[in-house]
Amino acid sequence: MALALYHPEHGYYRRTEGPWGFEGKDYYTALDCGPLLGEALALRLEAAWEELGRPARFTVLEPGAGRGWLGRDLLTAAREPFSAALVYLHRDDNPAARRAAEGALAPWLEAGQARFGTEAETLEPFVGAVISNELFDALPAQPWRWSGAAWERELLTEAGSSWQVADPGEAGAWFAARAEGGLEPGDGSIWAEALPTLVRTLTRTLKTGLFLTIDYGDAAAKLLAKGADLRRYKGHVVDGDWWEGLGDSDLTADVDFTRLRSLLEAEGMAGVASKSLGRWIREHAPLAEWETRWQEVDAPDRRARMENLLALTLPGMMGDRFKVLEGWRR
Ligand SMILES: C[S@@+](CC[C@H](N)C(=O)[O-])C[C@H]1O[C@@H](n2cnc3c(N)ncnc32)[C@H](O)[C@@H]1O
Repeated sequence: MALALYHPEHGYYRRTEGPWGFEGKDYYTALDCGPLLGEALALRLEAAWEELGRPARFTVLEPGAGRGWLGRDLLTAAREPFSAALVYLHRDDNPAARRAAEGALAPWLEAGQARFGTEAETLEPFVGAVISNELFDALPAQPWRWSGAAWERELLTEAGSSWQVADPGEAGAWFAARAEGGLEPGDGSIWAEALPTLVRTLTRTLKTGLFLTIDYGDAAAKLLAKGADLRRYKGHVVDGDWWEGLGDSDLTADVDFTRLRSLLEAEGMAGVASKSLGRWIREHAPLAEWETRWQEVDAPDRRARMENLLALTLPGMMGDRFKVLEGWRR
């Protein structure tokens, strides 16, 4: 998965042309559905800025920022006086995404309110927020399965996928401790080796502020009961044939929210909790105000906004499958 996504020449996320969006592309994210996620996020971050005592500068770092659309929607929606304190940092070494982001963020790049960083860059700790959308599901992940007698890992062979007995090390202890009612044959999950390092790097850039991530996944126990599962997206079709079209399809794995939370707490983050995207939107978006405002726009625009809201909140769409995890560096 690491090579398929991040090989410097052949990796899916190292391509020079973007595979995102609806028509003729591979997959879309919440940002393709409209600007409402960014609008709700602007209000959430404004509240965080208030809670921190209105610092003169509020830096927002977005790792895995892709095309920069969340940053664009956030910067568009942010209101005075919060917007005067807001500085947005885009971080993603994906060349196609970076090129798209140069266009999406152009007005703020020119004004010095947005800037690009690289994944290797070490930042001075700042006051503000670290936000991400679908970053952690793109981390290379190893599928593991309990056979009833031993742990097996899924490997790539010439014939495709093959499950072979191996020592899961730390992952085995984690899975065994989280399986509710004990492990059953076929139970399994994925293990993202790079997760602790990434969590450490990101949380250490926060002097004080909010860590907020949006992604799909579940609690460790639920993932184990579901069974290990890597997904491949190609042309908006999703399947489990991750070994097909390597470097030419998106590979993605559920985020283990229990592990993410435990790693954040180990880094000293406080109040770490997650909820469904639908509930988070209902909590932070001014739904009544939006409804009144939408009465004033023309019918196609009103419909687009309504569809955007439904995509984010309906349980069958992103409302339940996606979670928002928040934690604080006090
Ligand atoms: C599924 S895409 C999501 C893009 C965007 N956030 C969106 O919602 O459209 C995942 C992105 O994360 C980037 N990525 C993966 N690991 C990263 C890391 N350690 N730091 C920064 N970006 C990373 C990839 O290059 C890719 O562009």
